[in-house]
Amino acid sequence: MRREVRVFATADIGHAALDRLRGHGYQVEVYPDTEPPPKALILERIRSGIDALITTLRDPIDEECFATGAGTLKLVAQCAVGFDNIDREAANRFQIPFTNTADVLTEATAEFAFFIMGAVSRKLYPSEKLVEQNKWTSWHPSHPFLGDEVTGKTVAVIGTGRIGKAFAKKCIGLDMDLLLYDPILRDERFVAFVDSEMQLRHEAEFSRARRTVTYVSLEEALEEADYVSLHVPLLMRAESGTPTHHLMNEAAFKRMKRTAYLINTSRGPVIDEVALYEALLNDEIAGAALDVYEKEPLPADSPLRDPRLKDRLRLFHHFASGTRETRLSPDPEIGMAGRTVQAVIDVLERRYDGDPAKMPYVVNKEAFLPRRRGDGETG
Ligand code: GLV
Repeated sequence: MRREVRVFATADIGHAALDRLRGHGYQVEVYPDTEPPPKALILERIRSGIDALITTLRDPIDEECFATGAGTLKLVAQCAVGFDNIDREAANRFQIPFTNTADVLTEATAEFAFFIMGAVSRKLYPSEKLVEQNKWTSWHPSHPFLGDEVTGKTVAVIGTGRIGKAFAKKCIGLDMDLLLYDPILRDERFVAFVDSEMQLRHEAEFSRARRTVTYVSLEEALEEADYVSLHVPLLMRAESGTPTHHLMNEAAFKRMKRTAYLINTSRGPVIDEVALYEALLNDEIAGAALDVYEKEPLPADSPLRDPRLKDRLRLFHHFASGTRETRLSPDPEIGMAGRTVQAVIDVLERRYDGDPAKMPYVVNKEAFLPRRRGDGETG
């Protein structure tokens, strides 16, 4: 008798995508609560012999999970682009592929960064609050507050991978000067295309001034920009020659203009939150809008909750990819859920010659590449 293929999802990623798995004859169990399942439950399901585990950023998939799944668990399919919660080395040791959902959340995340930049700069929250609290007394040229116009300003894009570039393209529409910084890669082709779009906009008199785009050092980006938007992965000191952990620290805030704003839709620990708190409190920068934090969900006692900062420090709930299309579409070209289930199908049905190294959504391809002669040999 054919053994049933079983999939356990730690969160409901939407029936449209999960039905695709059911359509393939798999038995799919979904953890029904909105809070994450206890680790013991995940381990119990792995021990019971599930073939695939669907996870999100909140599930710690560590060495113990992979060891428990050795020989039975065929993949971990993460419904997110980030995978800070997954122990890559352990996955490799146990030869279990894990997948992510890069690409499909690029535009959603980039537009969110763009919108929260506008929201904090144009004081949308204080304005709404004024109306809500019925404190709007009259129209006045400057009272009770003014915002800062974004159009025509200079924005620093820190990290020019997919999301950073998508964000930069949106900023062209606001006729911003672009300062690009990337610790690893300079995409000069991208610069050339952006520059020609800026030229066209100027020729057509869409933009009053001829706007500019250029790669610069981090120091220059921080010193010159009116807005600094972070789009780097989280890289710890121990794992990278170009770490991003606490990239935005006390020294970085001191470099920024007093009138500048910081935007973060990347990873929380890229910012030293205590340093940010001090910088805001001491008016070293004008404001910030954050979607990610050193600890998530944001702790009740976080200094970032200081009511004195509220109007200038806008806080969101790791929501940048949170659109219906991006989160739930069953189409792997559109949605995170679609990409997650496609990854499950690829691995379980042994597509791409059954070789995880050839599968588009597998992250730890290195664990499946053919070993070169001499690799791992001692003599
Ligand atoms: C969201 O932050 C993700 O990593 O998917």
